[in-house]
Amino acid sequence: MMILVTGATGSIGRPLVRRLRQQNQPFRALVRTPERGRDLDCEVVVGDFDDPASIETALAGIEQVFLCSPGAEPTPGQQPMIAQQTTVIDAAVRAGVRRIVKISVLGARPGGLLAEGAHAEIEARLEASGLDWTIVRPSGFMQNFLTGAGAFTSGGDLIGAYGQGRVSYIDCVDIAACAAVLLGDDLGNRQRFVLTGPEALTHTEIADTLSEAVGRTISYIDRPPAEFADNLTAQGLPASFAADVASLYEGVANGSAAEITSVVGDLTGRSATTFADFLARERELLRQWPPQHYR
Ligand SMILES: NC(=O)c1ccc[n+]([C@@H]2O[C@H](COP(=O)([O-])OP(=O)(O)OC[C@H]3O[C@@H](n4cnc5c(N)ncnc54)[C@H](OP(=O)(O)O)[C@@H]3O)[C@@H](O)[C@H]2O)c1
Repeated sequence: MMILVTGATGSIGRPLVRRLRQQNQPFRALVRTPERGRDLDCEVVVGDFDDPASIETALAGIEQVFLCSPGAEPTPGQQPMIAQQTTVIDAAVRAGVRRIVKISVLGARPGGLLAEGAHAEIEARLEASGLDWTIVRPSGFMQNFLTGAGAFTSGGDLIGAYGQGRVSYIDCVDIAACAAVLLGDDLGNRQRFVLTGPEALTHTEIADTLSEAVGRTISYIDRPPAEFADNLTAQGLPASFAADVASLYEGVANGSAAEITSVVGDLTGRSATTFADFLARERELLRQWPPQHYR
């Protein structure tokens, strides 16, 4: 049962590759260049979502695909994720692939803002493809706080417009563990799984936990969503995009990202990782603060 892992060098892909290796699962990893795949320590195939022929070649002999590509672009009307993932779905149909396990996002819905709307569109295409499918909808990644995508000031404080809204951030290693079970045990056909961390934290609580882990005070600076939108337009981003970002912040402040599910435990038999345990595991990366890069 050969699997193709796309996004293999990403935050979910790397731990998934490790899991599949441990499970002795036959798989190959899609990478953009041979150099990118060198440290994955597995069979790799070179391909690019923007080059359909390379994807079709990569799919030869593949039964299941793990589908994960970079998140929605912040520019309205430019959502490469939709075109790129549709390329994989269409090529999979042509190549005789049986099933796709796709990473989506918590809150995906038709007409939803940014990634929520883009993933809903791809989910619909996957459902209509005739392939077997499983959709995984994770909450925000804990890893964002190591890449800088969690939004920090240059001084290393956390900044956002979440108010006291709670977010059930999840560790990508847990997402990968669930994906490995779904792929390896061939579970969850035509099902959606909402994956979250074990707790929903305010950004003040997140800053407190970061402070303990890093060994210095990290504050959470809360700003009104409209001020964030103004900053984005001042940086030259389109007003409609800035308005969508502000609406997403308002939604989170009102509890849209606070859902907690037991799916990680149900699938893996292990409790989902807490934010404090995640930071303890990644303590080497916390030596540099504010975070610059994570892989
Ligand atoms: N971040 C969050 O909090 C969050 C929450 C829920 C859902 N999600 C979803 O999770 C998914 C992954 O998000 P991410 O941004 O965090 O991804 P990521 O970890 O940065 O991984 C992206 C992967 O795609 C590969 N890739 C990029 N462009 C490619 C191309 N043209 N052809 C082939 N491979 C390509 C990258 O390879 P290289 O190493 O070569 O760049 C990398 O392996 C997105 O769909 C996002 O919407 C994210």
